[in-house]
Amino acid sequence: MTYTPELMDLIKIVEATRPRRLSETYPSMSMEERDAVLQAFHPDYIQATMRPIRVGPNKGMRMPLELADVMEGRPLIQSGFDLSQPELETDILIIGGGGAGASAAIMATDGGAKVTLVTKLRFGDANTMMAQGGIQAADRAEDSPAIHYLDVIGGGHFTNYPDLVEALVLDAPLVIQWLENLGMMFDKNPDHSMMQEHGGGTSRKRMHSARDYSGAEIMRTLRDEVRNREDVTLIEFCVAVEVVLDEKGQACGAILKNLETEHLFYAKAKAVIISTGGSGRLHYQGFPTTNHYGATGDGLVMAYRAGARVDFLDTMQYHPTGAAYPEQILGQLVTEKVRGLGAQPVNIKGDQFVYPLEPRDVEAASFIRECADHKMGVTTNTGQPCVWLDTPMIDIIQGPGTIEKALPAMVRQYRRFDIDMVKLPILVYPTLHYQNGGVAIDAHCHTNIPGLFVAGEAAGGIHGRNRLMGNSLLDVTVFGRRAGTEAAGYIDSVTLGSPNLAHVEAWNKELDAAGIDGALQSPILLPKYTRPQ
Ligand code: FUM
Repeated sequence: MTYTPELMDLIKIVEATRPRRLSETYPSMSMEERDAVLQAFHPDYIQATMRPIRVGPNKGMRMPLELADVMEGRPLIQSGFDLSQPELETDILIIGGGGAGASAAIMATDGGAKVTLVTKLRFGDANTMMAQGGIQAADRAEDSPAIHYLDVIGGGHFTNYPDLVEALVLDAPLVIQWLENLGMMFDKNPDHSMMQEHGGGTSRKRMHSARDYSGAEIMRTLRDEVRNREDVTLIEFCVAVEVVLDEKGQACGAILKNLETEHLFYAKAKAVIISTGGSGRLHYQGFPTTNHYGATGDGLVMAYRAGARVDFLDTMQYHPTGAAYPEQILGQLVTEKVRGLGAQPVNIKGDQFVYPLEPRDVEAASFIRECADHKMGVTTNTGQPCVWLDTPMIDIIQGPGTIEKALPAMVRQYRRFDIDMVKLPILVYPTLHYQNGGVAIDAHCHTNIPGLFVAGEAAGGIHGRNRLMGNSLLDVTVFGRRAGTEAAGYIDSVTLGSPNLAHVEAWNKELDAAGIDGALQSPILLPKYTRPQ
């Protein structure tokens, strides 16, 4: 597999415009221009793809159709489920084995707690592992958490919750140190200082990286540490299907399901941390996704059904550069670092049509506009609209060998299909990447349910209506750590009552009263890719 002859002909046009583009500086957009392209072309703004949820604490809140259906699902268990004999007892039950869950486990055991971490697939099968470009932290003299704060808030269209952003940016330098002390191998300059690059919407270079597999390196580091902790019991291929509350409304564990045996059992805990990640595998509006196989929004469903409030669920992140060709890797991430290093987005005429590092939502909407409205996109042999990302510009600007050194995983991904991104541009189109919203939390990861903490992509409010690159790896570590510390403190003072599933019964009644037929059960646990027989 390589490019078709038709695409090779189009590449000649891209190559021909390179000398002109080398001396061109494409301007970034004004706020008005950004707003206009978002309103007209960003998927979040297509009203017909959203609807209000009909039940629960946020009844009336709009969210994507696919998510609303799952959130309104029937529980997988009945309220009469036997809770009298818990098969597992622990201080803190962590649901989800990505960056947030692992960070929480480390800090909770530092706080003296015994932890059980359950994870749907293997430990580390999570969006953290798939993250490529880097992690932001203002730790250079020419930067500051205050400047980082302004970038985050600006990127989020000033809708973010200020106390959450404050926590994010203030903990960031500490988190970098913590990760390095745990053994993370950051990219370094010859003088041993951290290499730091720009991401979209950042006013300072503060993206710390491990080549283009930063998330995998963070996950490796955290996973090793968790596995070395005696006070963590790790259970893989085990999912939570329902949070359990006591008669005071406090979280006191969850119903778990062993995915191999399908056995359902009650795990009792003094506190529960949900760190189940996002929901890209719901494929909103039919978009492909960068997300890992288990990203089905389970934590949102369970927390909401137990009475937790959610926020910003009408906003999802479409990463501008999903792979558009070849079809085998459709929707997989092409890290923003590629643009950060100098690759330019280019249309079928070889013209750059947008500043490469606009905030993500603006960049993605501009790509869609270029194809749908300006009719200047490329169409692949499978009918996929897309634009060029002129990757050879990186070595032309920064010197030969830069791409191979900074983006080894990306280069390999394309070489598997006989495409050499060092020499030839690649084709990209927006792909579903991140759930901007989630369960509402305070700066210490409390929800409105005592004893129920949420961290990572399952939580909402930190990024408002749009997250900037590198603030997700930061979010999972900052809030994962905070959740672990806070839960370890909380269990010292909590007295649990008797567990019950009254909220499940109440949920079923509310569904009945709303006339919801209940054909769909949730959480769905795994994506539904097979056609009904
Ligand atoms: O483009 C990227 O490398 C993605 C990073 C992120 O979502 O933070």
